[in-house]
Amino acid sequence: MKLDSLQLTNFRNIKELLIEPCGEINIIYGENAQGKTNILEAIWLLCGAKSFRGAKDGELIKFGEKKASVNAAFTSQGREQTISIDIESGRTAALNGVDMSPVSGLSESFQAVVFSPSHLTLITDGPQARRRFTDQAIAQIIPRYSAVLREYGRALKQRNAVLKDIRWHSELFDMMEVFEDRASHYGAKIMRLRDKYIKKLAGYAVEIYDGISGMSEHIAIKYSPQTVCGDLSSEKENYIKLKESFKGSRDEDISNGTTSVGPHRDDIAIDINGLSARMYGSQGQQRSAAIALKLAEASVIKESFGEQPIALLDDVMSELDENRQDYILNHIKNWQVFITCCDLSQVLRMSDGSRYKISGGRLEN
Ligand SMILES: Nc1ncnc2c1ncn2[C@@H]1O[C@H](COP(=O)(O)OP(=O)(O)OP(=O)(O)O)[C@@H](O)[C@H]1O
Ligand SMILES: [Mg+2]
Repeated sequence: MKLDSLQLTNFRNIKELLIEPCGEINIIYGENAQGKTNILEAIWLLCGAKSFRGAKDGELIKFGEKKASVNAAFTSQGREQTISIDIESGRTAALNGVDMSPVSGLSESFQAVVFSPSHLTLITDGPQARRRFTDQAIAQIIPRYSAVLREYGRALKQRNAVLKDIRWHSELFDMMEVFEDRASHYGAKIMRLRDKYIKKLAGYAVEIYDGISGMSEHIAIKYSPQTVCGDLSSEKENYIKLKESFKGSRDEDISNGTTSVGPHRDDIAIDINGLSARMYGSQGQQRSAAIALKLAEASVIKESFGEQPIALLDDVMSELDENRQDYILNHIKNWQVFITCCDLSQVLRMSDGSRYKISGGRLEN
């Protein structure tokens, strides 16, 4: 996967910008608040995803303007292709000139992974951040997974609604049975796919973390489902266990008015040298762990699509010592990478590649 050109119009603080990046490392540098992350954010939109900064579409349009556009030419599967995205009241996109609706369909044609400082929450926050990461990563390679998640969420919502009324309406027990059955059906699929994905991811991440830490530390990543099942690869077994769990927690759930068991409570355990990275990791260790997960995510995408996704690394070097920085730069050497930094000296060791200085939303020559 290679981005050949990127043209932005009225995107964030960028009035007009054209970049023709190289196929290896592209360094976007400049002072704070000049538009470096904005460029990565625009490239990320080509995957059909929402902003990695959690921005609403309207926030992407330059103040005072009505429409923002992102136009790209890229090479994938040996073919030159184009994506154009217009952001007005909503977002519309075209792939090779053909309307792409929904825009999320772009994910099958354009793949990237992004690391930004906000991804540290993957390590530092509660289980929800890790579930979201896992679910988004799975959905990127198995599009039908989004529908499975939606159906599970729907069944859960229905069960929660019934929980609140059941005290006064015992006839609702039949409904509860139906919703639990549905939640178990979809939950069993979620657990199987999460288990499979985390195992794959962990294989890559362990190797990358070994490299980042110069073999001085070891990371362990393990799916930690809230409902313990035996063999998670068996949907049938997961289904039976989940159904038992829902049934067994009814009294407690009725008194709390919410469902206390199921994959919406799962976590991914991340330990460094046997200790929880969330609770005991240093800042550098937490950052290294988050980066290892993101680079591992890229390897799983490559395994699935047969092509190396583009890496968008926002301010990845700060807080890492030189050895760790060197390993990362070396690991991504043959990928197309966009890396932002304020201080060019951090990446000067990379003599290859292209450099772009951004100032006030413009490319400086
Ligand atoms: N819709 C918008 N219209 C105009 N300007 C915007 C819009 N959204 C954001 N900006 C401005 O874009 C500027 C650059 O943002 P960006 O996050 O890309 O900076 P950066 O170069 O990555 O800085 P840092 O080094 O601090 O991370 C900010 O000053 C912000 O106020
Ligand atoms: Mg930035």
